[in-house]
Amino acid sequence: MEIRNFCIIAHIDHGKSTLADRMLELTHTVEMRDMQAQLLDSMELEREKGITIKLQPVRMEHKGFVLNLIDTPGHVDFQYEVSRSLKAVEGAILLVDATQGVQAQTVSNLYFALEKNLEIIPVINKIDLPAADVEGVSQEIINLLGAKKEDILHISAKTGQGVPELLDAVIARVPAATRPSPPATAGPSPRTGEGSENLRALIFDSVYDDYKGVVAYVRVMEGSVSQGDAITFLGTDVDDRVVEVGVFKPQFTSREKIGAGEIGYIATGLKNIRQARVGDTITKTVEKHEVEQLPGFAIPQPKVFAGLYPVDGSDFPVLREAMSRLQLNDSSLTAHMERSHALGQGFRCGFLGMLHLEIVQERLRREFDVELVVTTPSVLYHVVLTSGEKKDIHTPDAFPDPSFVTSMEEQWCKADILLPQKYLGAVFEVMAQHEGNLISQEVLGTDRMLLHYELPLRELVVDLYDQLKSITSGYGSLSYDVIGWRSADVVKLTILMNHEVAEALSLIIPRTKAEAIGRRVVDKLKDLVPRQQFAVPIQAAIGGKVVARETVPALRKDVTAKLYGGDVTRKRKLLDKQKKGKKRLSTKGSINLPPEAYIQLLKR
Ligand code: GTP
Repeated sequence: MEIRNFCIIAHIDHGKSTLADRMLELTHTVEMRDMQAQLLDSMELEREKGITIKLQPVRMEHKGFVLNLIDTPGHVDFQYEVSRSLKAVEGAILLVDATQGVQAQTVSNLYFALEKNLEIIPVINKIDLPAADVEGVSQEIINLLGAKKEDILHISAKTGQGVPELLDAVIARVPAATRPSPPATAGPSPRTGEGSENLRALIFDSVYDDYKGVVAYVRVMEGSVSQGDAITFLGTDVDDRVVEVGVFKPQFTSREKIGAGEIGYIATGLKNIRQARVGDTITKTVEKHEVEQLPGFAIPQPKVFAGLYPVDGSDFPVLREAMSRLQLNDSSLTAHMERSHALGQGFRCGFLGMLHLEIVQERLRREFDVELVVTTPSVLYHVVLTSGEKKDIHTPDAFPDPSFVTSMEEQWCKADILLPQKYLGAVFEVMAQHEGNLISQEVLGTDRMLLHYELPLRELVVDLYDQLKSITSGYGSLSYDVIGWRSADVVKLTILMNHEVAEALSLIIPRTKAEAIGRRVVDKLKDLVPRQQFAVPIQAAIGGKVVARETVPALRKDVTAKLYGGDVTRKRKLLDKQKKGKKRLSTKGSINLPPEAYIQLLKR
């Protein structure tokens, strides 16, 4: 049977999972009675948030063709995974919500797809809604793709209208999976599905399964692979033996072998998911010296770092166990054990972005029941010391004394922002606050703008995405890419609570904004710090100089409440006693912050 491999490119909520459900029904891959809405979004967290973190790949059979649908994760944090998914297919459905129009994340994934020469099928979804603007959205797609109006399909993933025609279009327009591809840049073996016998399989995802161990989700480019084969992962140079191969129906369904053009899984004997990296090439061990690795293998680098500590120190063993379980399934999460003076034993973790951080935090809380303090997140800085030594700094803790620093660098990124024109002014303003340089702008459709910015990664990672969403009433969207290192001028802001340094609250911030941020943080803390029996001074300092100060007033317990009438001396006495008690407390007192305070601090 001929094979068509495709993915769906869509913005969050534009209907990807719903469309996948309809396709499963129509092709009888899953019978109606087994359908459960959004079958492919299987994680509990995903269902609740209604977002797809992982869509299960699925193999369908329809009118004598094999149709393999795989996922492209929607959020900016997972851009590398998207690019590998796109490498595994020949076509993409560009799914656009008729009431929302094209969003920036969609555009950036679409550009990836166009770069990889995928056949794009533009589809307008949710045409059943009264607010659907099919004309306007068509125009946007035409401007974006240069597509012909008659090539755009109109569907309702909810009612199923237009979905059979869409499946026909996939069969007709997406090239067969075993067509010869353009010649490889290097290497003797032709990159074709038919010519070469040697196995090359691209890993586009990998999971840890309790029963099967590490399972690599692959697109077989050339050759074939069977159970029992000795295989090698070329990027990580790990040798292994295949425990099982198979396809997704959507559950794992074993096969004797899978061959060129197919999408399936290889269950390995590996215990560590980091040995089966997304983007790596699997080949047969006997052929490994004849085979060129598929291009573009990269290990995604964490962009945001934060410390994770259990609220209750005695929970640390639980956190340690939970962390190693999570890492089994999440190869992008880095974690190193660390001890903090103030927060005790915990982990210093690296994340792909803030959503990734939030997902990890949420999963730890839900699946493992550990309540966490997450320290204020930071990006990575390259620091050159006067001694000539180079250091990577990603915690305020490790930030060196400025007198020993020769130079510092930080990462910059380019960001594409897509928005309706009427929010332009507000967006300009926010981007100026975030040190954004506007490089160029384009008009899309009738009233949409695409802005190209450059800005420091540190400004982008914390809450720019949320801020843009809120000032554009949800219509603005953002995607970004790191472009390189530029010189940085940052300082460490230290927070003192009750005259003690609160190390976990320290921040690395730009020198030019230090005072303003210091004032903002202190002001926020004033509301976040629970009132104590005594007044708590909160100060922000840079290199020993206090730049902002506030005081959290004491809780004044009315010790005189029980006194009626006028004995003033007795009242005095009680108040004096209270004062003394407070003094004792305030010299000893250490203040506990609510766990969410640390992340809140950075946000505007
Ligand atoms: P993520 O999982 O967040 O990426 O979203 P998604 O693209 O998978 O969207 P999903 O399928 O979860 O749909 C989002 C919402 O839109 C759900 O409430 C769906 O019921 C609804 N929806 C999807 N397609 C249609 C449609 O054709 N018509 C209408 N009226 N609603 C739809």
